[in-house]
Amino acid sequence: MQLSQISLRCTQGEGDRGIICGGTRSGKSSLAAGSPTVPWRLSLLADFHNRYPTGRILIADTKPRFRAEWTADGRSARRVYRKWRFGPVVPGSVLVQPGDKLGLDRAWRRGRIAICQGVAEQAPPIAWIMRQFTDQGDGRRPLLLYVDEAMDFYGPTGLPKPSTGNPILQAMRAGGERAVSVLMATQRAKFVSGQLWELLERLYLFRLEMEGDMKRIREMGVPAWMEPPEENHIFRFWSKLARGERYPPMRLEP
Ligand SMILES: Nc1ncnc2c1ncn2[C@@H]1O[C@H](COP(=O)(O)OP(=O)(O)OP(=O)(O)O)[C@@H](O)[C@H]1O
Ligand SMILES: [Mg+2]
Repeated sequence: MQLSQISLRCTQGEGDRGIICGGTRSGKSSLAAGSPTVPWRLSLLADFHNRYPTGRILIADTKPRFRAEWTADGRSARRVYRKWRFGPVVPGSVLVQPGDKLGLDRAWRRGRIAICQGVAEQAPPIAWIMRQFTDQGDGRRPLLLYVDEAMDFYGPTGLPKPSTGNPILQAMRAGGERAVSVLMATQRAKFVSGQLWELLERLYLFRLEMEGDMKRIREMGVPAWMEPPEENHIFRFWSKLARGERYPPMRLEP
């Protein structure tokens, strides 16, 4: 089983919409975009980046965790991360400050991956950049929005946080016309709103900590035989479009 068989597509302007669910440290971010032990090239985002030579990716990183290679004005971003102990470098990526629309435009001169990063309290200006990114979609160039900690944009009832404007829903709705694919990761499936679940079609499922989360996931139509793995770093895939298809558990092998 190859990751490329279950990765996100953006064909004929239609973007896939996926969610990665799993408990703390189960391996969500590594599957999406690599980690110090999982190389970038094995990740879902790298697959998209290679598959679509004109495609662009925005990583919304509110942990923050990923290291960009460049700043928006074209300098090395290494200085920015002087005090960080961990965190993988995303090759060729450009750092965009929350709220900096000009920075987002400039980033595309340098590369095809932008990282908008800050702490969770900066969700509103990061959400604004997510919205700008979606609005840049012209229906031809494939875009991928990756939200590493999706629940930083939503409250425990699934409602968007104040002043964020529900950027994930907006991107998912734009998917068809603007060629936007969306990937979101979260520990708590339970807090993902029904509106988002309705639009989600791909599930990457890691070990879960809370029972309520699997209940919520089943409400999305996931069949009973689809059980979450018990160990970290192992995930199962399920697609709404091929409901009955059973994929074997997978693990990225560094
Ligand atoms: N397939 C793998 N092989 C080896 N190590 C892995 C693998 N997947 C993840 N890891 C390691 O496990 C740790 C947790 O992974 P990761 O940060 O991706 O988890 P997470 O689910 O995103 O965690 P969090 O809930 O904190 O966001 C990291 O140190 C990562 O390098
Ligand atoms: Mg993570």
